[in-house]
Amino acid sequence: MEIVASDISVTIAGRTVLEDVNAHVIPGQTLALVGPSGSGKTTLLNVLGLLVPIGHGTLTVNGRETRRWKDARRRAFWQHHAAFVFQDYGLIEEESVAYNVMLSRLPPFWRRRREASKILPILERVGLPDRAQERVSALSGGEKQRVGLARAMFRAADVIFADEPTASLDRENRELVTAFLLGEAERGAAVVIATHDEDLIPRCDARVRLGPGPRLD
Ligand SMILES: Nc1ncnc2c1ncn2[C@@H]1O[C@H](COP(=O)(O)OP(=O)(O)O)[C@@H](O)[C@H]1O
Ligand SMILES: [Mg+2]
Repeated sequence: MEIVASDISVTIAGRTVLEDVNAHVIPGQTLALVGPSGSGKTTLLNVLGLLVPIGHGTLTVNGRETRRWKDARRRAFWQHHAAFVFQDYGLIEEESVAYNVMLSRLPPFWRRRREASKILPILERVGLPDRAQERVSALSGGEKQRVGLARAMFRAADVIFADEPTASLDRENRELVTAFLLGEAERGAAVVIATHDEDLIPRCDARVRLGPGPRLD
């Protein structure tokens, strides 16, 4: 899934948050959105994920202009192609880890046992073995974020959007999350990461720098 943002601007509550920003999301590659706090990383991530409308500029998905996409078309993009790994994003606290990982792709009941067995190696890979039946509300912030990763992996999404995925994690889990995201790109997914993690930034394939004088490299 290729996403191209050209000269986009975003104005929120009368303030220009992004101005003339370019970004190119390519299958099999990781793109880091970097810049100081408040520079618009999260906003740009939301723009690329079709969650925020743009002012001027163009935003295409696989060559198709998205500006006039109706809700149903955007919903199909989120459902069938995208995975969002945001802190506290879209997890149902009172349900189990397993339920949350399978969420929005819940198989028919006669296949659930088989599908459930698929999530065990995934939970192992994100460092949450033996936690499938635990309620999400009992997990720490960092653990919840990894449930989000497990869901992205279960969905085998074409494009993964991660907002500060390594923030507030210890070194071991930072490495685990980083390896996961780089691995998803190797599998062929397009991976977009808003981050200020100095270890993660150079390991990404490309960077968009925000802040004074946004530019692309
Ligand atoms: N929904 C919103 N309402 C008002 N201001 C917002 C909103 N979303 C973002 N902003 C503003 O846009 C700027 C960029 O925010 P953000 O994209 O979260 O930056 P970053 O992720 O780099 O810290 C900030 O000044 C923020 O206050
Ligand atoms: Mg942010």
